[in-house]
Amino acid sequence: MIQDLAKTHESMYKTAPSALFFAPGRVNLIGEHTDYSGGFVFPAALDLGIYGAFSFREDAQKRIYSASFADLGVVTLDPALEKKASLGFANYVQAVLWSLKEEGYALPKGFDITLMSTLPDGAGLSSSAALEMLIGYMMNDVFALKLELTTLVRLAKKAENEYMGVASGIMDQFAVGFGKEDHGIFLNTQTLTFEHVPLHFENHTLILTNTNKKRALVDSAYNERFASVKDAGQGLAFALGQTPQDVWEAHKVNLSPRTALRGDHVVSENARTLAAVEALKAQDYLTFGALLVASHASLKEAFEVSCEELDYLVEEHLALGALGARMTGAGFGGTMIALYAGDAPDFTELKARYQARFGFACAIYEASIASGVTRLR
Ligand code: GLA
Repeated sequence: MIQDLAKTHESMYKTAPSALFFAPGRVNLIGEHTDYSGGFVFPAALDLGIYGAFSFREDAQKRIYSASFADLGVVTLDPALEKKASLGFANYVQAVLWSLKEEGYALPKGFDITLMSTLPDGAGLSSSAALEMLIGYMMNDVFALKLELTTLVRLAKKAENEYMGVASGIMDQFAVGFGKEDHGIFLNTQTLTFEHVPLHFENHTLILTNTNKKRALVDSAYNERFASVKDAGQGLAFALGQTPQDVWEAHKVNLSPRTALRGDHVVSENARTLAAVEALKAQDYLTFGALLVASHASLKEAFEVSCEELDYLVEEHLALGALGARMTGAGFGGTMIALYAGDAPDFTELKARYQARFGFACAIYEASIASGVTRLR
């Protein structure tokens, strides 16, 4: 991949890259839809991600090419960083430059960037956070901005929220930034304190299954959940994601049934996340698996962000003997995870049944937990 990337850069821009970078995608093990109310999350970085090559230019132009969007060719960024539909994926790049500019970093020199990705787009594995973090990390390095990783995470989130206009928590950017090989990131999204927890999956297999469902209206549904979680937390002394069960039970009697249900998910998911991290530390995979199953049930019934394809895959994996299975990420499609003791079983029949039922294929792969954003060369 690295050689391919350098070669493509050279053929696009007639100059060799001066630096190469990588930013991973993420999978969330548990703690879903809790990161925008100050709750706990437990994501991990994947070995799938976005590779980027960089070189400075003599003039002030800022250009970018992505092999994933080859039909766009080399895109020249707008000097005023105005968001335009025609710029496609490059809007995410502009978003990060805008975020840096807001912080007082103007990036005076022009440059050329080439991107190549092993991360499926729109699969709920945070390809947008990976791109944002890749660009932020790259700019910090090549322009010697000396920003801390936490600042880059915050700026990438700001790019997503304020420039791209997508409400979201900090989990994705944080996981891309702070991933560690074979470790989960147990993060308190209220304080941003975190702990790398060893996963010890040597005798287990973590399987990712992408529903390949075309996701429609994800943003509006996400924003609706975002708003109801805010409503549910109104008037509490703590952030909803830090509220103990008994305090919540007393508070929720004044809420509409739907808002109470959304809050029920957040409060119970937090308790599950804490328990899941404890279970993993004790290498109690049965308990961990049961918590994944309970998480999915809550996301399906109380938070209502699952879908038929995800529910079907969870049932199928459990029927094949998985210790636990659940949707991961925002939901409404995207990817689900399943944890197996030992090696994974044969998935040929599962895939055929899925195809027959939904009319399109799912994609199954083994997850490898890797490090966060980095400079490769
Ligand atoms: C998306 C958002 C995250 C988080 C998850 C749900 O991935 O970007 O901030 O809210 O959904 O847990």
